[in-house]
Amino acid sequence: MAPTVAIVGGTGPLGRGIAARLVRCGVDVHIGSRDPARARAAADEVAGHLDVVRATLGAGDNLEVVGRADLVIVAVPFAGLEPTLERLGAALDGRIVVSAVNPLRFDGAGPVPLHVPEGSAAELIAARSPRARVVAALHSVAARTLTKVDTPLDDDVPVLGDDADAVAAVAELLGCIDGCRPVVAGPLRLASVAEGLTCLLLSINRVHRAHVGVRFSHLGDPVGR
Ligand SMILES: NC(=O)c1ccc[n+]([C@@H]2O[C@H](COP(=O)([O-])OP(=O)(O)OC[C@H]3O[C@@H](n4cnc5c(N)ncnc54)[C@H](OP(=O)(O)O)[C@@H]3O)[C@@H](O)[C@H]2O)c1
Repeated sequence: MAPTVAIVGGTGPLGRGIAARLVRCGVDVHIGSRDPARARAAADEVAGHLDVVRATLGAGDNLEVVGRADLVIVAVPFAGLEPTLERLGAALDGRIVVSAVNPLRFDGAGPVPLHVPEGSAAELIAARSPRARVVAALHSVAARTLTKVDTPLDDDVPVLGDDADAVAAVAELLGCIDGCRPVVAGPLRLASVAEGLTCLLLSINRVHRAHVGVRFSHLGDPVGR
């Protein structure tokens, strides 16, 4: 059975895009925000873009929606990650926590990766919430692509983590999205590479006025052994 999903920072483009895709698969999703009214508005907007709402599309304060979920997707900007983790406190304990957070900023030359002392945004979550089952995924999937719910995604999604069952659960969940191929990619210590890859993609987008994604060639079984 699919886990119930909460999206912390789910009112942003990424959160709304993932919510739409997962609800379309029949997964129950709760959109979180610092402001429950904003969460409700985002959930209503997502529902408005779907022909049929096949599952629960809930909304609430970030802490409240985490309490309803088995699996939490963190979709806040890097600058908001530490305060968000402080607010969530022990609520992430025991839950699968998917970090989609890319530590980056922009200057006149495009995206710039930020140095994270813990190694990556995902490892920062693991350091602050040591009982959470942290998985890194979704960094390179563009919100703009996700929100076009009637178009297959056409993306490979590296999924990284140290808890094999959590990684498998995330890969299975994301695999329900049409055109999304989750690729189990190794331990959480490589999350910075997946996060940094987004900077490269955003720079390619800037140079070519495109919206590129990732595909790994010559890959047989994406789950691996
Ligand atoms: N956009 C993409 O295409 C994309 C793709 C892959 C990964 N990502 C990553 O996913 C994350 C979310 O991306 P996004 O574009 O959806 O971001 P966003 O729109 O900038 O932020 C998402 C939500 O986070 C909350 N937020 C903003 N500042 C915050 C703060 N200081 N503290 C706590 N919460 C704050 C806001 O929700 P409330 O005000 O309602 O609380 C906002 O709607 C980022 O880390 C990004 O790098 C984005």
